Amino acid sequence: MVKIAPSLLSADFANLERDIQRCEAAGADLLHVDVMDGHFVPNITIGPLIVKAIRPVTGLPLDVHLMIEAPDRYIPAFAEAGADWISVHAEACPHLHRSLSLIHDCGARAGLALNPLTPLDVVYDAAEYCDFILLMSVNPGFGGQRFIDSFLRRAPKLRRFLDDNNLQHVDIEVDGGVKIDNVGAIAAAGARVLVSGSGVFRGKLEDNISALRQAAIAGLSE
Ligand code: DX5
Ligand code: ZN
Repeated sequence: MVKIAPSLLSADFANLERDIQRCEAAGADLLHVDVMDGHFVPNITIGPLIVKAIRPVTGLPLDVHLMIEAPDRYIPAFAEAGADWISVHAEACPHLHRSLSLIHDCGARAGLALNPLTPLDVVYDAAEYCDFILLMSVNPGFGGQRFIDSFLRRAPKLRRFLDDNNLQHVDIEVDGGVKIDNVGAIAAAGARVLVSGSGVFRGKLEDNISALRQAAIAGLSE
């Protein structure tokens, strides 16, 4: 129904294996891996080597979010390292069809990511080539930022478009500022893949993961 995707950006990097296994035991559905290059976004994080290192320590799918320029240069390396889902940013891809096709050719699920105010128009043509659409709800680059509420108006519009165009299988993923107190409204707006970094790793992650799931499901039934 909803998938909880802890963002490893907020994990303890000196104890990644421990944190990943705790997430898995606590019922996380997938693990979100934030890749930043210091160009598309101001921060630098994880490369294929880390993805390769964590691949054998978990059975969960790895959802690799590429916040990098020229992602086509690195998609094969991330897929080879074990990424199951790969998303690229519309703002970084002049040849979007090529990028999405490359992800599929490498055997991964393809996602298109949009910054909080990037017009949805790009999705209307691209959605049929995607497995999921990642709507950012913060400006990408850092964990622990405040949720930008444009998401709550964009997601229902996008969901309607997907449902009206035989694209019911394309999920909406939300990323940024997702917390227990807003996840109900976020799920009700149409998000089914819920990324949360600080919302999972601040405090006891086992409690946070189950509270996030419960609050999301409660939001769906309201
Ligand atoms: C931000 C990243 C997010 C980040 C979310 O650029 O894409 O995945 O880790 O962190 P929180 O949930 O703390 O906003
Ligand atoms: Zn992310």
